[in-house]
Amino acid sequence: MEVIIQPDAESVARVAADVFTDYARRESATLGLATGSTPLAMYLELIRRHRDEGLSFARCRAFLLDEYVGLPRTHEQSYYRFIRDNFTSHIDIPDDDVHSPDGLADDPTAAGLAYDRAIAEAGGVDVQLLGIGTDGHIGFNEPGSSLRSRTRLKTLHPQTIADNARFFGDDESQVPHHVLTQGLGTISDAGHLLLLATGSGKADAVAATVEGPVSALCPASILQFHQHATVIVDEEAGSGLANADYYRYAFENKPAWQHI
Ligand code: F6R
Repeated sequence: MEVIIQPDAESVARVAADVFTDYARRESATLGLATGSTPLAMYLELIRRHRDEGLSFARCRAFLLDEYVGLPRTHEQSYYRFIRDNFTSHIDIPDDDVHSPDGLADDPTAAGLAYDRAIAEAGGVDVQLLGIGTDGHIGFNEPGSSLRSRTRLKTLHPQTIADNARFFGDDESQVPHHVLTQGLGTISDAGHLLLLATGSGKADAVAATVEGPVSALCPASILQFHQHATVIVDEEAGSGLANADYYRYAFENKPAWQHI
């Protein structure tokens, strides 16, 4: 695992955008997209590069990590709509190539299986962007999630409902209680995991992810098992890392040929 500590959230976004830019320049790439507030600055930077520097996503396709159950794609808080509004409608990725779990499916179990099949048929996700919850969740795999889980229905933890109420007029009763999320096994199948965290509220979760035991209690700790996992944090989110000096040293002394 590579841990990159940046001075602030803007630099986190820039470094993450550099990684995504490298994938977008490939002959074709399958991007795994996350919602939430953390990746927004990276999406803005990619939109700017598309507009000002001609960065094209025309040969990319995308799979979202998760979706609320019960919200149509047109609902302004559905994750499909969120990604469209904040990223994909501002770049040249074909609309039909942006996929999300079907939150309105009559049979969520079948919808989860179908989603995993679609990812596999696309050749797998090349780079999966991840945010992290204050309780260590990735996607919506709350603490206790099976480390090999596949895309399936999950019940949100009350803490996550409270955290996300800000997107629903600060009204927790408006936040759907169920979601379809890529499982930890599904996420682990991606070729490269790129986890971003900013702000002091994420410091404990980041420390548990990087330096704690691999445990279902901190779902993000599965990154420790992945052969290509990158964690990019700002100083605040990295403030709980015991080995911070070594991560800085390793990044500064990275061989020029070795990409992130
Ligand atoms: C979003 C997602 C969640 C968020 C996490 C952090 O698709 O799957 O795991 O990444 O809840 O959210 P923010 O970035 O809003 O703190």
